[in-house]
Amino acid sequence: MLDGQRRKLNAVTELIRDLQTLSRFGADGDDGGISRLAWSPPLLEASGWLVQQVRALGLDADLDAAGNVVAVWAADGGDALVVGSHLDTVPNGGRFDGALGVIAGLAALRQLRGSGFQPKRPIWLVSFMDEEGARFSTPMFGSRAFVGEDLQHLGTRTDGDGTRLADAMSAAGFSLEALSSARAIDRVHGYLELHIEQGPVLEAQDTDVGVVTHIAGSADLQVVVTGEAGHAGTTPMGARRDALVGASRMITLICQAAAEDGDVRATVGTIAVSPGASNVIPARAEFTVDVRATEDAAIDRFSARLSALIADIAREEGLEASLDEAARLAPLALDGDLQGALVAAAREAGASFTSMPSGAAHDAMVIGRHVPAGMLFVPSRGGISHNPAEYTSADDAVRGAEVLTRAIAQLAS
Ligand code: GLV
Ligand code: MN
Ligand code: MN
Repeated sequence: MLDGQRRKLNAVTELIRDLQTLSRFGADGDDGGISRLAWSPPLLEASGWLVQQVRALGLDADLDAAGNVVAVWAADGGDALVVGSHLDTVPNGGRFDGALGVIAGLAALRQLRGSGFQPKRPIWLVSFMDEEGARFSTPMFGSRAFVGEDLQHLGTRTDGDGTRLADAMSAAGFSLEALSSARAIDRVHGYLELHIEQGPVLEAQDTDVGVVTHIAGSADLQVVVTGEAGHAGTTPMGARRDALVGASRMITLICQAAAEDGDVRATVGTIAVSPGASNVIPARAEFTVDVRATEDAAIDRFSARLSALIADIAREEGLEASLDEAARLAPLALDGDLQGALVAAAREAGASFTSMPSGAAHDAMVIGRHVPAGMLFVPSRGGISHNPAEYTSADDAVRGAEVLTRAIAQLAS
């Protein structure tokens, strides 16, 4: 067999093997879904596995104070080219979101090490902690620590079980006090991330890779509606202050308002009701609203509309309601030169490509505010993501990894 063909076959085999291995950490059961939430044992096991893989290539790798896996291919001088993504998932998420970017980065290191490549600047592979923010509403926790943001105030955030973020960190062997030592951005030259598209465009256009132009911004809002608990059998329907009735009216109107607005997407993805018994009128309903738009101004405009809408319904229903912003990520334009480097790498690899925006959030939004950042998308079957059915074919994954590898080689030469 020709050498090139054998190498390609090996790359496919290794990538599939790595994805399969990773998908065992945090597997939910037989639906193929994965739960690797921030600071959880399955995520830390997956991170430990990655450390071992990189060390087997003769490189240094360890977890930093934010739980990010940082692997280092040292060079004589210069700031590092960081290749990153994440190994955490949403609850019952898919096998590819984040994981494929990390595995593709690992594949790139393997291929470049094997070919005798000598980087002219350090290359780091980083798997960021808690990109999803699904457990504590703390998206991009790891990348925010990596760029030196002060995150101490997030320690008191609680998850659905009432566990504080600071305590989840301690249980995993980390401390909020040491977090500032995760700052490494001053030694970084640029950032590249491969990710699944999580939307339908590449598949529909039958295109191999997408070069990302900009990433939509997001706001994580938290609404708390307060009424009064009461007896389900004795309280007349007209004499109730039912927090859940108010919350459901709000949710319906919020989604309608987003559809009318046209520039935003709004999703209510969690709701908690208390006291939470079938024979008790809900005294409190707490829900999240994830708002996305390509312009910050559109998010601001929609948040203001949402705030008015919530106040109106609370008044009508005799309830109290509050609205808080738990997290905010500004939209980001990706670096023009890095887009050019990815296009050149796609051409070299013989991959068809298109330029496209990202509706999903990524660590690149945080890193890209400090250093030039570039992102490459590979197709998602049916556009499905944050779902166990998430899928990218081995061919598409390997082609993406090849484009990434060529871009890394060019940028680190
Ligand atoms: C990250 O997956 C996001 O919520 O966009
Ligand atoms: Mn995701
Ligand atoms: Mn992701």
